Amino acid sequence: MAHAGSERESGETKDDELRLSEAEIAVHWKEEEYFHPVPKFVGQANLTDPAVMERFSEKNFPECFREYADLLTWDKYWTTTLDTSKAPFWKWFVGGRLNVSYNCVDRHLAKYGNKAAIVWASEAEDEPIVSITYQELYVRVNEMAALLRDFCGLKTGDRVTIHMPMVPELPITMLACARLGVIHSVVFGGFSGEACGARIVDSKSHVLVTMDGYYRSGKLLDHKVNADIAVKKAESEGQKVEKVLVWKRFHDKLSSPTPMVAGRDYFVNEELKKFRGVLVAPISMPAEAPLFLMYTSGSTGKPKGCQHSTGGYLAYVTGTSRWIQDIHPTDNYWCMADIGWITGHSYIVYGPLALAATSVMYEGVPTYPDAGRPWRIAERLGVNIFHTSPTAIRMLRKLGPDEPKKYHYNFKSMTTVGEPIEPEAWLWYYHTVGRGQAAITDTWWQTENGGFLCSTKPAIDPMKPGSTGPPVPGIFPIVYDEHGKEIPAGSGKAGNICIRNPWPGLFQTIWGDDERFVKQYYAKYNSNKSSKDWRDWPYFAGDGAVWAKDGYIRILGRVDDVINVAGHRLGTKELESACLTVSEVAEAAVVPIVDPERGRVPEVYIAVKPGTKASAEEVAAKVTLAIETSIGKIARPRAVRIVPDMPKTRSGKIMRRVLASISNHMDYGDITTLSNPEVVEQIRVQVQGAGPVEKKVGPEDIRRFGETT
Ligand code: PRX
Repeated sequence: MAHAGSERESGETKDDELRLSEAEIAVHWKEEEYFHPVPKFVGQANLTDPAVMERFSEKNFPECFREYADLLTWDKYWTTTLDTSKAPFWKWFVGGRLNVSYNCVDRHLAKYGNKAAIVWASEAEDEPIVSITYQELYVRVNEMAALLRDFCGLKTGDRVTIHMPMVPELPITMLACARLGVIHSVVFGGFSGEACGARIVDSKSHVLVTMDGYYRSGKLLDHKVNADIAVKKAESEGQKVEKVLVWKRFHDKLSSPTPMVAGRDYFVNEELKKFRGVLVAPISMPAEAPLFLMYTSGSTGKPKGCQHSTGGYLAYVTGTSRWIQDIHPTDNYWCMADIGWITGHSYIVYGPLALAATSVMYEGVPTYPDAGRPWRIAERLGVNIFHTSPTAIRMLRKLGPDEPKKYHYNFKSMTTVGEPIEPEAWLWYYHTVGRGQAAITDTWWQTENGGFLCSTKPAIDPMKPGSTGPPVPGIFPIVYDEHGKEIPAGSGKAGNICIRNPWPGLFQTIWGDDERFVKQYYAKYNSNKSSKDWRDWPYFAGDGAVWAKDGYIRILGRVDDVINVAGHRLGTKELESACLTVSEVAEAAVVPIVDPERGRVPEVYIAVKPGTKASAEEVAAKVTLAIETSIGKIARPRAVRIVPDMPKTRSGKIMRRVLASISNHMDYGDITTLSNPEVVEQIRVQVQGAGPVEKKVGPEDIRRFGETT
C-alpha cells in the first residue's frame, strides 16, 4: 500500500507510522458536554428537518445533490448528475450550463436590486463604510468584464492572476472573470511578489490584476511593488505578463511610490471610464468548466493549483451556505477570512452572493486599532452571522476578553474554520462573543474541497466544543489506519480521515498535473486503478481524526508535511526550498512548534556549508529574509537555529521528528538508530539549555492542540 503523501521518498513510512501513533496518544481528551441551539435560532433556521440525513443517505446518492443544484438558475438543466467514467475525475451535473456571475448578481436584481450585496469597512476607522447594492455590483461587474474582454483580449478558458487586498474591487474582478468564463487565480494579498510570480507561471496567466496599496495594521502598504517582482519572476521563468491592471485604493490619489511601466501597467479606474455602462452578456458555461484555481501547499516545494468547477462548486457552496451557515437573503453576514483563501472564495463571495445575502468585507487586521474592532463593525453594520478562525478567536480573547460586552450586536450564528479549536477558546466564543444565543458551527474542510465536509447542522445537532461534528449531508467519511483497515467510530483510535464518495464541491484536479492529483489524494486507499465505481476511490484528506461514538469527528491535524499556521497551510518543503536559496546553507529542516495563539509556527534548523565565514546571526537573518521573499511574512519562522549537523538516519534522511521534539521541549525518544546520535544532545542543549531534558509540552498540552509533531 502506498503511504500518506506518497510523493515523499521511500523509507519514510516508519516516520509516518510514528506520527500516527503519536496522534493516537493524543486522542484521550476529555469528552465535552453538549450545547443546544436556542429556540429563537431554531425557529428561523433554513434546515430544521432531521430527515435531511435520510434524503442525503447513500441510497439516494448522487441524486440527493439535486437539492443543492436546484438552488441555482441553470441556462440548461443537466442530464447526468454524476459521471464516474473517468474515475477519479468526477463530473457533476453533466450537460448543464450556467453562469456564476449571473447566479450571484443578475438573478437578484428584480427582487433585491437595491439591497446591499457587499458592505466594506476600511481598516482606517474614519474612512466611510462602502455599500454596494446588487444593482451597482451588476454595473461594476459588467464594466470590468468589458474591460477584461475588450481591453485585455481575454476569453473563456484564459487564466488571470489576481493579487489584491480585501477591497470590493476584488470580488468585482472575480465576478467579471466568471461572467466571461475566464479562470481566476486569486493569490492571497499577503504573499510575496515572488510567490505571486510562481503562481502566474504555473497558471500561464498573461494578465495580472493588482492594487496600488492597502492598509494593514495602520500602515498604507505599497502593494504595486509586488506586481513588478511577480512579473519579473514570471518572465525569468518564461511566462510573459502582457498587462498589469492596477486598481487604485483611493480614486483621487496614488497609494504607491512604485512607478507604472508604460505599455504594461494600466490604472483600472482610468480604463474603466471607457466602458461606462457597457453590458456583457454572461457566457453560458458548461457545469464542468473550471471556475477558478486556488493554490495551496502540499508535500512538495511547489504549491498546487486546485481547479474548481463551475456548476458543482457553486451548487455546493450555495447549499452549505444556506444550511450550515444558515444564510437568508435578509442576513448581514460577515466572514472575517481573506478572499485570498478558499474560505473567502466560498463563504465571502460565491455562497453568500448566490443566496442574495449582504456580505461584509473588512480590509484589515482584526485587532487594529484594538481588540474591540470586530465588535464595533458588527454593531455598526448589524452583522448577525459571524465567521472566523480559532486563531482570531484566541487573539481577540487574549487582547480583549471583555471587549464584546461593550458593544450592541446580535449574532444568531457563528462559525469557525481552519484549525482545531480548543474547548477554552470555544467556550469564550460561545458565552462572551455569542452571549449564549448564537449557534456555533465548527466547520472542517480544505482548499481542495470547495465547501464544508464536517460540521453540526446548527438547528438540528447539539454543539460539542473541540469537535467539528458529524459529516454534513451527502458526505460519507471513513477513518482508516495506515494499512487500509477501517477504524470504526467509537473505538477511540485515531487514523486517516477519508471521504468515501465524491461531492459536487470537490476540486477537479491539480492544474496541469492529473498524475499528482491521483497520487496525492487517491492512490493511498484505492485498490483498483481501473475501477469506475466511486466506492473504490476514497479521497485521502491528509488529516488525522477520531470518530466518537456519538458520530462527532475530532480533527487532530495534518499527517503530512504541511504546517497549519494560524489556519493557513504552509508546506515545510516550500520553506526548506526557500532556505536553500541562501548560499551558505547546506541543509535545512523546518518543523512545527506548538503556539498558544497561532496553533503552529515554523522553526528552522540550518546546517551551513563547510568554510562558511558568515556568523550564525548573519545566516539566520538571510534565511528569514529568503523565506519572506519567496513566500511572504506569514511564513516567517519563530527561530532559525544554526546547528553543527542534522540528526540523520543511516540512509541519510534528516530526522525532523527529533528536531520537532526538541523545539517543542519534549523528550526526543529513541535515537539509537541514527547515524549521528551524538548531535541530538548537542542540539538539545543549544535549544533547551544545559539542564535535564525538558518536557514542557506534555500529553495534556498536545491533546489541546490536536495533532502532535
Ligand atoms: O488540517 C485541517 C485544517 O486545515 C486544513 C486545510 O487547510 P486549508 O486548505 O488552508 O483550508 C482551510 C479552510 C478550509 C485541514 O486539512 N482544518 C480546517 N478546518 C478545520 C481544520 N482542523 C480542525 N478543525 C477544523 N474545523
